[in-house]
Amino acid sequence: MKILGIETSCDETAAAVVIDGNRILSNVVASQVDIHSRYGGIVPEVASRQHLITILPVLDGAMAEAKASWTDIAAVAVTIGPGLAGSLLVGVNVAKAIALAFSLPLIGVNHLEAHIYANWLGRDKPEFPCLCLIVSGGHSDLVLMTGHGQFEKLGRTRDDAAGEAFDKAARILNLGYPGGPAIEKAAADNTPSFALPRAWLRGTDDFSFSGLKTALLHLVRDGDFSDPARVAEAAASFQQAVVDVLTTKTIQAAERLGVRQILLCGGVASNNTLRDCFQNKSSFPVLIPPPNLCTDNAAMLAACGYYHLQRGKVDGGDVDVIPSLSLS
Ligand code: KG4
Ligand code: ZN
Repeated sequence: MKILGIETSCDETAAAVVIDGNRILSNVVASQVDIHSRYGGIVPEVASRQHLITILPVLDGAMAEAKASWTDIAAVAVTIGPGLAGSLLVGVNVAKAIALAFSLPLIGVNHLEAHIYANWLGRDKPEFPCLCLIVSGGHSDLVLMTGHGQFEKLGRTRDDAAGEAFDKAARILNLGYPGGPAIEKAAADNTPSFALPRAWLRGTDDFSFSGLKTALLHLVRDGDFSDPARVAEAAASFQQAVVDVLTTKTIQAAERLGVRQILLCGGVASNNTLRDCFQNKSSFPVLIPPPNLCTDNAAMLAACGYYHLQRGKVDGGDVDVIPSLSLS
């Protein structure tokens, strides 16, 4: 069964065709990074206008790459939230038009649930119960998944999301946007020699990264960081602090709950230090999608949509965007 996925929640315009929630036939992503980097962050109105420009070429590209015709497609899955309202509207309206024109089921999908379903793509199915760590630009959530569509949110960030913290740290260190890849690149092969704080928030599964960000700000403000080698060491120290907290807290929760597997997802899960640290420290199997399926894409929407369809969870033409949608 071929599902068309559409994703426009933030600054990537994406479309993909996936068979049975697993085999990717096409996965096209048009990034707006170059456009937003000159502003140092995402400008919502620019993002939605850019989606309008690129959505149809991206769709055509995904259909052509999949060698699919519209009669092959069984359903359309689209992100309805969370995300930027103007950006979400573009994808949802295009999905509605396709569903109407070709009499297809329309499936509105939670972007965070879709990130989790990136772990179903191109390999054996994960096993329940599993513990999911969603680390993206807007979220750092620890979620227990007991079955398809069954989620219990255990923890969340109390302030900055992990990706947001990377982006802000990169700004402090003058490393550019987006911050995650910039910090990772600067940190590579450098020693995390600066002592930066870790917020453990013991007794909870919550996270907090704003204290770490402020500590980095003070370190840079009060020291001499004209030498790029020191900037690189600060980047490595920041990255290590985020990685330590994410891995330690997630593995502790997995031990407490006795889950079968740990699933990582979201843009920050493409970070190699985080990936290596999880694989080295965890006695549980840790599933992590390849980096291009950690960051925003539409294959994850199609995978998630497939499981909605299996459960008969289909939306009507009146489905709306929900910018602040949460998981449970
Ligand atoms: O999941 P995603 O592509 O979009 C959202 O749903 O937010 O995540 C984007 C976030 C950004 O904050 C970006 O800086 C971060 O993921 N990110 C990374 C890396 N690649 C992207 N953070 C750390 N290391 C990376 N390699
Ligand atoms: Zn995302």
